[in-house]
Amino acid sequence: MKIGIFDSGIGGLTVLKELIKYHNEYYYFGDNTNIPYGSKSILELKQLSSRIINFLLDKNVDIIIIACGTISTNLSEYLKSKYPYIPIYDVVSPILEIIDEDTTVLATTATVNSGKFKNAIACPLLVPLIEKGEDCTDALKQYLAQVKTNKIVLGCTHYPILINEINKINPQLKIINMGKILGEKLQLPSDKLKINLYFGKVDESLIKNINKIIENDYTIEEIKL
Ligand code: DGL
Repeated sequence: MKIGIFDSGIGGLTVLKELIKYHNEYYYFGDNTNIPYGSKSILELKQLSSRIINFLLDKNVDIIIIACGTISTNLSEYLKSKYPYIPIYDVVSPILEIIDEDTTVLATTATVNSGKFKNAIACPLLVPLIEKGEDCTDALKQYLAQVKTNKIVLGCTHYPILINEINKINPQLKIINMGKILGEKLQLPSDKLKINLYFGKVDESLIKNINKIIENDYTIEEIKL
């Protein structure tokens, strides 16, 4: 099966990591020349995500996975009705089925503003720091101090990169990873594994970040959409 998957940058790789347990041909686009998505308007997000889906459709993918919380919360219905001929899955729908009162969602400003989650905290500092590979401890401490529940959803796919730091700051918190939940729900068929990565800009620091998340072999190409 050919699977298209996308995010604003490296965050969606935390979803890909969960999906490659099921071997398939993956086509991943990280829009790192337009990151962050969390502070963009809905109109801009519509244009950016449509451009990426058209690119993935050119790769003849069988399904598309929105590996971005921001696009999932704001544009999932829009994209599903714009492209009715291809199955589109998003990382947030399975979470909405399981979330309870004892859960806080950490997410981007656009995701919080979408109103999909009752109890959500915007963490705008995290995505730029993660993409630069910089230390997030101070920002994380500030956001986690606002959490009054026993469980958190990492409502932005970049945040699972910080799981060790979160555990260090608050070892009691139960952490819900959207990619993991989606992977379990989809139960993809397994075939031959091939990982094709495409990013708006490829440099050494990106490769270093990717290698911290993905342990399998992959090819990577710089693509200007
Ligand atoms: N990984 C994206 C998400 O899940 C990050 C959005 C951004 O680029 O701000 O929301």
